[in-house]
Amino acid sequence: MAGTRLETKYLGSSETPELQLSRAQGSFVFDTAGRKYIDFVMGWCVGNFGWGNPEIVRAVQRFAGPDYAYPEWSYAPWGELARLLASIAPGKLTKSFRATGGSEAVELALQAALVHTGRRAFVALEGSYHGNTLGTLSIADSENRKKYENLLPFCHKIDTPLDEKALDKIETRLKRRDVAAFIMEPVSMNLGVLIPDALFMTQLQKLCRRYGTLLVMDEVACGFGRTGKIFASEHFDIEPDIMCLGKAIGGGVLGLGAMITTEAVGQSLEEDGSLWSTFGWHPRSVDVAIATVRYVTRHQKKLFDNVARMSDYFRARLSQMEYENPASINILGLAIGVDFDDEDYANKVAARCRRKGLVVAPQDTGILLIPALNIEYEVAEKALDIFEDSI
Ligand SMILES: Cc1ncc(COP(=O)(O)O)c(C=O)c1O
Repeated sequence: MAGTRLETKYLGSSETPELQLSRAQGSFVFDTAGRKYIDFVMGWCVGNFGWGNPEIVRAVQRFAGPDYAYPEWSYAPWGELARLLASIAPGKLTKSFRATGGSEAVELALQAALVHTGRRAFVALEGSYHGNTLGTLSIADSENRKKYENLLPFCHKIDTPLDEKALDKIETRLKRRDVAAFIMEPVSMNLGVLIPDALFMTQLQKLCRRYGTLLVMDEVACGFGRTGKIFASEHFDIEPDIMCLGKAIGGGVLGLGAMITTEAVGQSLEEDGSLWSTFGWHPRSVDVAIATVRYVTRHQKKLFDNVARMSDYFRARLSQMEYENPASINILGLAIGVDFDDEDYANKVAARCRRKGLVVAPQDTGILLIPALNIEYEVAEKALDIFEDSI
């Protein structure tokens, strides 16, 4: 593979590429040798609506706006996208800020929390991931944080499981009233599809309110339908102060991020924050994001009926399979984690799946299955047959 040789020589990467991509369509990707794979990675929550989704791609083809919009000028579709995001976001989240992707959206959230509360500390889940900038790395997983610990010095971690004990620990930390924000993915794709129970989330929000800490929900990966609702936060009785969006907001076609917050927090950020983003909400990306939000709202019922039906099917099939290693299955909508508690075995299963025409996402000691939300039954059935054959 000439491309791979060039990449090895000239392109920095921590992974050996699993396949060299030539094209993608619907629930399938094709490599340069012409081999077709069922895609259960979907760009890791980027292509939620299927690759080459006609309604979304049409927005790119019809785009007639300017090549670029200078951040300090006005550009009408920015207002339209912000209005649409406010119309689908939970609670009082009405004010959007422009970003190029997920990490920048989370950075904006951290900045907003600092300037709004005047505090300096953060609390996050141990082992979590919120992006690849120094700020986002330093609030997340402790292993990464060791390398960056001087940057955001007051980051505290809560171990899973998310139970009474975790709530006690959170309260002890928030009581000091120096925590600007508690940040987590409402359903954590990065922790093997960790689904907190509803009571934990309600109590967490209560604690945050009681001690003046902002509640930040990172929906970069789990947002835009992955869990069977537009936002995973909607599964819980909570009203986050901030949500971070990215990945699938660009319809699997272009990159974009957004931080959406309340009027009050937004005002603090406008007054004291640093908001410049040269390519944040690039005109073409904005058109695609508008088309994506319209696609989700227009097809909401059909899309989520499919997610619910497929979710039941995946749950039934996965729980009946005979695994070489005992597996625990976490599933909400089409966010699916199968944990074997064994990294080597997980990698082996992923490699076997790939050889048989299915790509999946190994993660630590397990595997994530991330199908398109509009996947057809026959494709899911074939993929699960391959998975069953590979375990
Ligand atoms: C939960 C979460 N937040 C933030 C990010 C960072 O997004 P990006 O890679 O677009 O900067 C990721 C990326 O995987 C993520 O999973």
